Formats: sequence, C-alpha cells, structure tokens
Amino acid sequence: MAHDITVIGSNMMELTTNIERMPQLGETVSAPSFHMAFGGKGANQAFAAAQLGSDVAMISVVGSDILGKEYLNHFKESGIDISGVQIGHQSNGVAPCFIQGNMNSIIVVQGANSELTPAVLDHFSKLVRDTKMIVLQQEISLKTNYHAIDIAEQYGIPVILNPAPANDNVDMEHITKCEFYSPNETELSHLTNMPVETIDQIKEAAHFLVDQGIKNLIVTIGSRGVLWVTKDQEELIPSYKVDAVDSIGAGDSFIGAFAHYYTSGDGIPTALRHANAYAAVTVTMSGSQASYPSINELPKLQAKLEINY
Ligand code: RIB
Repeated sequence: MAHDITVIGSNMMELTTNIERMPQLGETVSAPSFHMAFGGKGANQAFAAAQLGSDVAMISVVGSDILGKEYLNHFKESGIDISGVQIGHQSNGVAPCFIQGNMNSIIVVQGANSELTPAVLDHFSKLVRDTKMIVLQQEISLKTNYHAIDIAEQYGIPVILNPAPANDNVDMEHITKCEFYSPNETELSHLTNMPVETIDQIKEAAHFLVDQGIKNLIVTIGSRGVLWVTKDQEELIPSYKVDAVDSIGAGDSFIGAFAHYYTSGDGIPTALRHANAYAAVTVTMSGSQASYPSINELPKLQAKLEINY
C-alpha cells in the first residue's frame, strides 16, 4: 500500500541535562535535573506528520542497544510504519543537550544513523517509490540523501530536503531536483555566504539560490515567519505571537506538518500557513516530539494563536 509520506533519516535519543553552568575540561559539576526524550530530525519530522494523521513510513537505523529498542517501540506506538527501520551494529544515535537558562548546547553522536547507506534504500526501495512524498534532512550521509533524490526523480515523487544541520558539501545538481528545499535563515547564510540579518537580506539570499535552479525555496525565519520564493513569486507568511518555552524541534515539526498538509491536498501557500501554525504551537511547550500535538489536540491550541503582524 502506498504511504502518504516516507521519511528517510535520523533518530536520536535526546539526553537533556538542565545545568547551572558547563563544567571546564577535567572538572565535575552537579546539575539539577535530567530527562531522556525521543528526538532526531528525521524521526521528529515523521512523528509530526503521524500526529496530524498522515500514513508515514520511516527508513532509519536504530542502535543495537537498549536505546535502539526503546526507539523502535516508540515508532510503533506512534503509528509509524517501521518495516524500513533496521537495527544497526552500533549504539543508537544520541543528542546530549545542555540547557542553561534559555540557551542550549547540543552534541550529536550519529551512532547507528551512520549505517543508513544507499544500499539500505535499495533494500527498502518499495517504501521509497511507493509514497506521495519523500522527506529528507542532513543528519545522515549526504550520499544516501542524493540516492533518495535520484530514485524520487525516476518515479516522479516530490522531495522536501531540509538542509539541517548545515553541511558545506552542497551538490546543486541534486538539490535542484527537489521540489522543495527548506533551510532556516542560518542555514541559508551558510549556503550562500550572504548576510541574513534583515528580511531584505534574507530575500536577496533566497533569490540567489532560486536563480541557481531551486524550485520552491522555503526559508523558516523563526518569529519572523516563513519566506516562500520561486522564480516567479515571493511570499512572506507571518508568524504568530507566542509565549515561547522551547524551540527545540520546532523546525522539524514545520517540515513534518508541511508534508502532511501538502500530501493531504492543500496548495503550497495553504500548507505553509498550516505548518507555520503547527510549529508555533510546539514552541509553547518544552521538548521536541513531546511538544507536537495530535490532530485532536490542535484546534484548541491553535485557537489561542494570534498573528504577529
Ligand atoms: O532539530 C532538533 C533535533 O536535533 C533534536 O531532536 C536533536 O535530537 C537534534 O538531532
């Protein structure tokens, strides 16, 4: 059966410690609290789309350790098709996060995610071909992403690539094959080497990329909204006034929600507005996946949103 969305990407166990200060090298400090949560950009995007009711398949590699087992169960419980999830030979990917006040530092250890090779995609080729949309990010090997893009091109499947975390090796030939390319403004600056402080600068950098052949460039600009640029048009979709608690994983929720609304039949501008509203709700709660509401919880939470003109 065809899926609505196939997400090819990472899963990471978030190991979050609230700290009073970072230890110096060689020093031990105690910290007030710790918790573990499900994260990783690919899994976050899959979870957001599944929470909204999409039929989602995940292609990912979990660890051979206890964290990998936990993650596999979590995918199952979230209603995500795990027939494309392999158990690797290494420990699960982890993201130790250190939160001090409203600042956070994150270390990403790829672990078993590094085993998500092009050969794994060939093994699960049915899941790659038999879907309405493919979602990619950059916490796995770029070679795997490019292989996915080539398969998608062959079968005419739209791809959204979220170039996070930023990577210096950008292959324009592959990127321009994607229907949607969605960096945040920092990643946009990294990609173009252009300043992105003001909206005008962001627009200039966005047009620079579109002039190189990107079809739909979607730049997420946090509290300033979302900029959609194609070769013929440009639209700035405003954000919402929110009491932000924690923005970890908000970008991923936007991508997953966009994929959901787009594959459900919304046109691009409508899907962008809906995804923008979904991501706005997630920043009012802490955690990444822990802050992604289900389709049933959403109306009440979105009713409180006010556009930030
Ligand atoms: O985008 C947020 C995600 O990045 C977190 O879930 C963390 O795991 C890191 O991968």
